[in-house]
Amino acid sequence: MKISTKMKKALNDQVTLEAAASNSYLAMASWCEVTGYQGGADYFYAQSDEERTHMLKVVHYLNDMGAIATIPAIKAPASSYKSLEGLIKTALKNEQAVTKAIHNMVEIAQKEKDHSTYAFLEWFVNEQVQEETKFETILQKFDLLGRDKLAVHEIDKILATDAATPESDPAA
Ligand SMILES: [Fe+2]
Ligand SMILES: [Fe+2]
Repeated sequence: MKISTKMKKALNDQVTLEAAASNSYLAMASWCEVTGYQGGADYFYAQSDEERTHMLKVVHYLNDMGAIATIPAIKAPASSYKSLEGLIKTALKNEQAVTKAIHNMVEIAQKEKDHSTYAFLEWFVNEQVQEETKFETILQKFDLLGRDKLAVHEIDKILATDAATPESDPAA
């Protein structure tokens, strides 16, 4: 194994976090779909897929380092939300927790002089900046446009457009 036991545990915990994020966004997409927010549904189905690719990145890295990834069971996410805004606030909190976990791993990598994991994590550090900004920008729309039915419908349309626009890779 080319990484420490501590780093192995932190990376496996990250597999769980990314899997939980994927599951949570899937539940959000499904709620949007049945509630009539088609833009939100498209957006969060895509987010769910994206989180799964993050999880896979960590799984492959662990296996490449001879540390062997553990595929976890995931707790059921919330299945209903008070509003589209509340849902996006939950998503932002989610991302802030993921950012914290990634920064924590970066610190472990620095302490352990684990250059491989440090380099591997750089992509995630940049990705999290994008992720948090994304949800903050959507939340800002509620302040700008309002929270009545027409405003929320407008925001749902913005989410549909966002979902149809491919995201830039932070490494590119
Ligand atoms: Fe992620
Ligand atoms: Fe994310």
